[in-house]
Amino acid sequence: MKLPFLTRRHAGDSTTHSQGADPIGAQVLVRRYQTAIDRITLAREEGGVFALVSAVGEEGRTTTAMGLALAAARLKPGRQIALGDFDLRQPSIHARVGLPLAAGVREALAEGADLDAVLRGTVEPNLSVLTAGQGAVDLPDVFTSGQFTSLLSALRSRFSMVFVDTAPLLRYGDASLLARHVDGVVMVVRADYSRLATSREALEMLEPLRERIVGAVCNDYRDPFPFNLLRKLG
Ligand SMILES: Nc1ncnc2c1ncn2[C@@H]1O[C@H](COP(=O)(O)OP(=O)(O)OP(=O)(O)O)[C@@H](O)[C@H]1O
Ligand SMILES: [Mg+2]
Repeated sequence: MKLPFLTRRHAGDSTTHSQGADPIGAQVLVRRYQTAIDRITLAREEGGVFALVSAVGEEGRTTTAMGLALAAARLKPGRQIALGDFDLRQPSIHARVGLPLAAGVREALAEGADLDAVLRGTVEPNLSVLTAGQGAVDLPDVFTSGQFTSLLSALRSRFSMVFVDTAPLLRYGDASLLARHVDGVVMVVRADYSRLATSREALEMLEPLRERIVGAVCNDYRDPFPFNLLRKLG
């Protein structure tokens, strides 16, 4: 499958200004994700829900989801942006932005909680966060449920762009089920870490959804060599 290259993300991107520690600065982070936001906007003018996926753990899905959401919020001040933690296996966005875990996605899915009751504002005036929550849901089946598609519809009608974190594709069924209902899928590979065979396997799983794939982000880039991985994947 030919995979459009969206951007490379440098080492050090995993820290965000919301954590307090801000060694590289939010402005720098926003600049680094600007190209990816521009390319995503060009590919999907209508906006919508974008899932950050990767083959295995620790490839940078959370870092990339957060970076894209922050960049979109800063670069598109007239639009409402959301960041959602749909990695219900190992949620981390709440901790990275200093919010409690609940209530969030799980409550919206399990109890039909109103979006207003679970969305949280941030220091960015046009950026909201939806944490993973703690309610009981059936995984991965909940991602085929009417509650899930209703939640996505509610998010679409409220926000221009929504970036959602997911669980590793090859480890759980969640992300491939979730990806069927989103408007765009962004694949994350990590320099000097992702393996060609596993990233290819993940792409093969997504093959039926090829229309939905917007492109790939190379995370934690340090030198040009890892681009061979993306070239081989293409
Ligand atoms: N660009 C980067 N620069 C420096 N460290 C990074 C970068 N991207 C990821 N990391 C580090 O790699 C680890 C995994 O990053 P992250 O949490 O974004 O990945 P993930 O795919 O969401 O992982 P998980 O499978 O655990 O949810 C973190 O410890 C993070 O600090
Ligand atoms: Mg993560």
